[in-house]
Amino acid sequence: MYQKQFSGKTALITGSGSGIGKSTALAFCRAGGSVMLNGRNAEKLQKACAELQDMGFSVACCAADVQNYAECSRLVQETLDRFGRLDVVVTNASLSMRAEFAQMEPAIFRQVLDSNILSPAYTAHAALPALMETRGSLVFIGSLSGLIGLPTGSAYSAGKMALTALAQSLRLELLDAGVHVGIAYVGFTQNDPDKRVFDAAGNMVPVAERAGWMQQSQEQVAQSIIRLALRRKKRVILSPLGKFLHALNTLSPSLTEWAVQRSFKRMARMYKGIQEQAS
Ligand SMILES: NC(=O)c1ccc[n+]([C@@H]2O[C@H](COP(=O)([O-])OP(=O)(O)OC[C@H]3O[C@@H](n4cnc5c(N)ncnc54)[C@H](OP(=O)(O)O)[C@@H]3O)[C@@H](O)[C@H]2O)c1
Repeated sequence: MYQKQFSGKTALITGSGSGIGKSTALAFCRAGGSVMLNGRNAEKLQKACAELQDMGFSVACCAADVQNYAECSRLVQETLDRFGRLDVVVTNASLSMRAEFAQMEPAIFRQVLDSNILSPAYTAHAALPALMETRGSLVFIGSLSGLIGLPTGSAYSAGKMALTALAQSLRLELLDAGVHVGIAYVGFTQNDPDKRVFDAAGNMVPVAERAGWMQQSQEQVAQSIIRLALRRKKRVILSPLGKFLHALNTLSPSLTEWAVQRSFKRMARMYKGIQEQAS
């Protein structure tokens, strides 16, 4: 349906060596666009890049840490040097967590928070001049946690909620410049098996198990991101569960808190059981 809609256009997707970012890169390629892939791990990134190149797509990669502004500037410059233009930026890179606030090391809290608000802001700022030239599209990857604060995700939720404010401010500031600003509130999504998140002390641990029915595939999420950019929509809330929880939260925040707390307690018990079986 969206075949070749991005023909002649270039997308820069942060954190696209794996996960949702990689699926989104593939979706942009299939829609005819060229893509600059990004991540910190050069080896993983080059592997993803080679995979897409082998499929015949126009992609390049640039290892850069988007928590550092100078790296964001270099990433944008390398994109322009390689492809000559920049039409879509997806700020997808993020670090997540599974830890209760009271136990968290302050430095880890800050790292998760920064990665979910400063990194997208730095990427957007560095890319703006190029996006203004093409009257392009800036897509922030938010989360259901950016609509409802979820337990064991305080810094992540705080960062993702701040992203809504950033998107709203930029949308108004950039109206006359013709740059589209959209935000995709991604719901629970199937994770790469090797995805890791921070625990309270800063160790990288597996993500908590979720029931299959709660999750969308990475491809479904990628298609929604593509549609948001193509139709220049302000926002999209993904997954039936995400839509339901958002609607419930609007009607009754107390009922939502009760439902979320119950299901997280059940998930915590399940996870403890899995850990005990494994040890
Ligand atoms: N999965 C879900 O259920 C879910 C739900 C809601 C929202 N989301 C959002 O969707 C997006 C993608 O999630 P995901 O599940 O695909 O995550 P993921 O599997 O952990 O992938 C994140 C990617 O970001 C890169 N990255 C992290 N920090 C970076 C940095 N400072 N600079 C450059 N790259 C960096 C990582 O690669 P390197 O390690 O090589 O840097 C990795 O490729 C995130 O914004 C997340 O918040 C996901």
